[in-house]
Amino acid sequence: MKETENRLVLVLDFGGQYKELIARRVRECRVASVIKPGRTPLDEIKKLAPIGIILTGGPDSVYKPGAPKAAAELFELGIPVLGICYGMHLMAHTLGGSVEPALVSEYGRIDTEIDTKSQIFAGLDSPQICLMSHTDQVTRLPEGFKTAARTADCETAAMADEKRGLYATQFHPEVENTPRGTAMIRNFLYGVCRAEGDYDLGGYRARMIEEIRGQVGERRVLLGLSGGVDSSVCAALLAEALPGRLYCIFVDHGLMRLGEGDEVEAAFRGRKLHFLRVDAGARFLKKLRGVRDPERKRRIIGEEFVRVFEDEAKKLGGADFLAQGTIYPDVVESGANASATIKSHHNVGGLPEDMAFRGIVEPLRGLFKDEVRKLGRELGLPRALTERQPFPGPGLAVRVMGAVTKEKLDTLRLADAIFREEVSRLRSRPDQYFAVLTDTRSVGVMGDFRTYGCTVALRAVKTTDFMTCEYVPLPHRMLGRVSARIVNEVRGVSRVVYDITGKPPGTIEWE
Ligand code: XMP
Repeated sequence: MKETENRLVLVLDFGGQYKELIARRVRECRVASVIKPGRTPLDEIKKLAPIGIILTGGPDSVYKPGAPKAAAELFELGIPVLGICYGMHLMAHTLGGSVEPALVSEYGRIDTEIDTKSQIFAGLDSPQICLMSHTDQVTRLPEGFKTAARTADCETAAMADEKRGLYATQFHPEVENTPRGTAMIRNFLYGVCRAEGDYDLGGYRARMIEEIRGQVGERRVLLGLSGGVDSSVCAALLAEALPGRLYCIFVDHGLMRLGEGDEVEAAFRGRKLHFLRVDAGARFLKKLRGVRDPERKRRIIGEEFVRVFEDEAKKLGGADFLAQGTIYPDVVESGANASATIKSHHNVGGLPEDMAFRGIVEPLRGLFKDEVRKLGRELGLPRALTERQPFPGPGLAVRVMGAVTKEKLDTLRLADAIFREEVSRLRSRPDQYFAVLTDTRSVGVMGDFRTYGCTVALRAVKTTDFMTCEYVPLPHRMLGRVSARIVNEVRGVSRVVYDITGKPPGTIEWE
């Protein structure tokens, strides 16, 4: 698959945490972007023929042995380059300047004086607030460069060789904490790289449809639909490309939230695809009977998923292609580690290994999550699907502590629906929020009666990468309302608690 037909900006990754953010900002400016490892050979870079190159930040010190390097020729291709943080150090170091530990490390939003005559700062006022995060800095400029920005503690907060189109910033223009950062990136793209603004999702959609048709021809495609954002958008796009030749198997494992299975089914009604909903709840519950260990639950659900999928695919008489909702972050190789492997990711939690297909169709593999959501909306999917918060493949089985039963699932579904309904009324929503049915019982009193019921825990977290999180301090009044509603409306629950643990040390899910 060709990465793009648009004029392209190449993001070379040196292990910085913001590589995806940089690539997304470029796309937000309507310019196509791809991320490649910093060690990508020059020949490959030339083949991509980018109109500009951005070097990301990274954790290394450029003067230390073993730190990632760049070839001097990279800066002699006649292609404009923007180096950010480590990328700046790399540019300076490679072109004969000096990089040394800074006397004062700068972290956070720092007042930065910018040279508004420099092309990347055109149209901006000085000073600007910029996000700094560094312990090294450029102490001697390479030949041909001028200082383009400075702070109280950093003499060279940006440098430029306008003639050669080489620019570098010590700060991070890609993050929101540099409020005018996108304007700086736009200046680089349009003022320096002469971008044409030819990238948009409509173009991607049209090109993908053509490509899918070329790949699949008159044959049939099978898709495991989980109801998650990626597989749902994948289905909607494939249905448009291959009317009547997409076979979706939606395995309802009975571990979904209230009404979710019906919502997924309704979203695909009337589309030109074959939608097969398999109500396999009983099958999964049987396998899960008495199982308390979370990892065993996951394994059982993953395996059973594959079995159900295989059974149903066989009944359909097979298909020629298998579609997957793989998205761009799943295929981007990490630049920090030469041995980094590409993660193979299945929304549906594992797919049959012994089923023979002519090929795999992955129409979303060039898109970031926010682009996938946007494409989903453009394809007419309901917001309940496109804006869906992450939901674990094993579903509520890892939110019912201990052994899973139908009764416990039903109790949790109701409590969770109340919590989600109340959260949906808030002006801003946590990144992930849900209820957990603990296996702790406690004494309560209702009317004149003593009760001995279950404890529901509520969890709401703020996170960008789901690797770490903070709990969200939801308003107490709202929490009180949720607690009262759950105890009153859900039979068998007599206590509600709120989880205020971050990750680490906790995880987002309880199991
Ligand atoms: P943890 O609990 O590890 O969760 O902090 C991080 C993110 O991953 C989701 N999660 C899963 N997703 N299968 C999935 O597809 C799983 O087994 C699974 N376990 C956790 C979790 O909801 C959170 O968004």
